Amino acid sequence: MTAKVIDGKAFAAKVRAEVATHVARLKDETGIQPGLAVVLVGEDPASQVYVRNKHASTIEVGMASFEHRLSPETGEADLLALIDGLNADPKVHGILVQLPLPGHLNSELVINRIDPSKDVDGFHISNVGLLGTGQKSMVPCTPLGCLMMLRDHHGKLAGLNAVVVGRSNIVGKPMAQLLLGDSCTVTIAHSRTKDLAEVCRRADILVAAVGRPEMITGDMVRPGATVIDVGINRIERDGKTKLVGDVHYESAAAVAGAITPVPGGVGPMTIACLLANTLTACCRANGLAEPEGLTA
Ligand code: GUN
Repeated sequence: MTAKVIDGKAFAAKVRAEVATHVARLKDETGIQPGLAVVLVGEDPASQVYVRNKHASTIEVGMASFEHRLSPETGEADLLALIDGLNADPKVHGILVQLPLPGHLNSELVINRIDPSKDVDGFHISNVGLLGTGQKSMVPCTPLGCLMMLRDHHGKLAGLNAVVVGRSNIVGKPMAQLLLGDSCTVTIAHSRTKDLAEVCRRADILVAAVGRPEMITGDMVRPGATVIDVGINRIERDGKTKLVGDVHYESAAAVAGAITPVPGGVGPMTIACLLANTLTACCRANGLAEPEGLTA
């Protein structure tokens, strides 16, 4: 079998276009423009690229973008004061503090200072608790993007065996909660799981989010399974830098029913879902109906 390639780039473009349509209608009918504030502390090159891309995408869908670039030496009190100001600002509906923060700052304290209703990353402890108990919350962007692609490919997910490899707070755990919310039978596996290959082979849906280049190989994939590769790893091969996922693409694609490529799979969905979450937060803040299909 050769797997169907799930085109995350095209899917993300569709989601961004839907968000843009809603934003235009919202502005037209109510005069409200959704706004996203992004806070970057320090000069980490990868984070700078992410923040630049987020800014450009936010503008492109017609939202207001507020960028706050702070020096690497910024103290905790100053950062918390900035967040307090953004929490109180009615033009700001979503707040994202780019991670990782410099070592002298306590990420948990900072993230938990964000008003949960503006926490478009879904990292605030209140949103984690709401998701875990099946209540309305802000949902982390990467797992939300994976869920959208899975729903699009499968229709209903109820009863399917899902295996999530990886137990991070950002992807693995919320991904498992979302799949459980859609009535999958969910296993969370990780680097210490015994006979990982056997566990993975039980999966109708296999989500790889371990952060290890090409760790999931074709022999670990059940024939016909859907493979979602969350990994983005830079490796050196044949003297060149190459971007690979957590899945060994060639061997897995030969067995799977459907697979997301790297690049062009899950990656583009993350920013699209950030914009979707900002729109959702704006609608909730103003007591307006939420757009359908853009939330969990
Ligand atoms: N750094 C890398 N990915 C993310 C993300 O999704 N959100 C935030 N806030 N920081 C990140």
